[in-house]
Amino acid sequence: AVIVEHTFHVKYLTVSKLCHQTVITAVNGSLPGPTIRVREGDSLHVHVINESPYNVTIHWHGVLQLMTGWADGPSYVTQCPIRPGTSYTYRFTITKQEGTLWWHAHVSWLRATVYGALVIRPRSGHKYPFPKPHREVPILLGEWWNANVIDVENQALATGAAPNNSDAYTINGRPGNLYNCSQNDTYKLKVQQGKTYLLRIINAALNNQLFFKIADHKMTVVAVDASYTKPYVTDVMLLAPGQTTDVLLTANQAPGAYYMAARPYASAPNVPINNSTTRGIMVYENALSTSASPKMPVLPPLNDTATAHKLNSNLTSLIGAPHWVPVPRDVDEHMYVTVGLGLEPCEKNRTCGGQNGQKFSASMNNHSFQFPTKLSMLEAFFFNVKGIYTTDFPNKPPVKFDYTNTTNSNNTALLFAPKRTSVKKVKFNATVEMILQDTSLITLENHPMHLHGFNFHVLAQGFGNFNPRTDRKKFNLIDPQIRNTIGVPVGGWAAIRFTADNPGVWIMHCHLDVHLPLGLATAFVVENGPTPATTLPPPPKDLPKC
Ligand code: C2O
Repeated sequence: AVIVEHTFHVKYLTVSKLCHQTVITAVNGSLPGPTIRVREGDSLHVHVINESPYNVTIHWHGVLQLMTGWADGPSYVTQCPIRPGTSYTYRFTITKQEGTLWWHAHVSWLRATVYGALVIRPRSGHKYPFPKPHREVPILLGEWWNANVIDVENQALATGAAPNNSDAYTINGRPGNLYNCSQNDTYKLKVQQGKTYLLRIINAALNNQLFFKIADHKMTVVAVDASYTKPYVTDVMLLAPGQTTDVLLTANQAPGAYYMAARPYASAPNVPINNSTTRGIMVYENALSTSASPKMPVLPPLNDTATAHKLNSNLTSLIGAPHWVPVPRDVDEHMYVTVGLGLEPCEKNRTCGGQNGQKFSASMNNHSFQFPTKLSMLEAFFFNVKGIYTTDFPNKPPVKFDYTNTTNSNNTALLFAPKRTSVKKVKFNATVEMILQDTSLITLENHPMHLHGFNFHVLAQGFGNFNPRTDRKKFNLIDPQIRNTIGVPVGGWAAIRFTADNPGVWIMHCHLDVHLPLGLATAFVVENGPTPATTLPPPPKDLPKC
């Protein structure tokens, strides 16, 4: 194991896309930012130098951060932001996981352009649990705005309305030739006939789940969220924002050119989205003639919940693969947690842009999460500072109610959830089970829920209200998929389980960036364990001050 060192200069970059010149915030002048490559067991030191006019933090999405909570990165949760003109070094070791993860800004909407891949290969001398690919290729799906994304976010928050949709989706930062002025801004992958490639696909889009498909080629899923899966063959993939999928792709078709393409899975009925398609070209290098126009894959319809559910629920983990963990059987904390949108009252004498002239809001168990501003939650935990967060996040919602019934929207107590910085406090090594239940106060929607600091087992997923009597019998306790982000089925539920073996403060939130500032979040505060090795060490000297 070695120390891998990187320096990230975060600063403005002028790019032209979709016939516009736009100034974005980017790392080291590239979009996506640099790919970080490590082996399991390596340590990573990343010096982040903020040369931008914005507050910045970097989150290492999916990294377990064992005993290194100070490097997790969500602003005001594990650190105060890196102010313009200052810097911070993230130091952590990557253990007990292999595959594809990614890094992104975790403050405002900056992650629209501040993101990159994090590739974790096995230790030297160790092998993949599948045949060695000829080449490995990161495929980052993104979302692009012609406007400044921070302005887009701030405008939505000020008016209480839904934010403007993006102008394009991208593959490795490129929109592709279905968009205006993008003929030369199309991602191109060269392959050789008969060779197998490992595509490390990442959904870095802000607000959209994406179907992904390559014309005439099948893909074999071998890992999700840096956990190996039983090989699963499919011709289409779905990734929620935050999720990663490693697939093997063999160039076994007639030499020529084929499009790869992505467009949204729009789970919420009647919510306007950007329904355009991004595409890149896969070209066989040894093709005699590439004059024929590339073949275009047929993507599923935008609202194809059946296909989405099939892809989400058919995956299983690979028993006995490196770092595989069995499902913990004894549950210490049973939680039933609602996730969904609601409203916040508009200021007096104003009409806001959300439903009924109010502002849009969001909550978990009727608590709408509010980020602190004076101190990070992790510092409050470590230094025992009161008044930054409360420990009263409930194990169930305040009332029993039919979460699939879309006519419940007049229950004002549920609709207007109070703003809280409330957390769930658990003992070191406690096993937590959560039933995540979609609500329907504003709309039904598939919310991709992401937990920092832990992987969880996805025991089951279904539609309608979770029914403990019948649905518990469906739990897969043998080989469920292991993830850090789960799309809770639209109008349905997902059951997850994890062991809280890492002290610190770990946020859990919807990975649609539109819902995070609205309050679709909570956090786990995991107490220290009994030994020095299970006690959170003090913060690094350069931890930014609020
Ligand atoms: Cu990828 Cu809290 O985020």
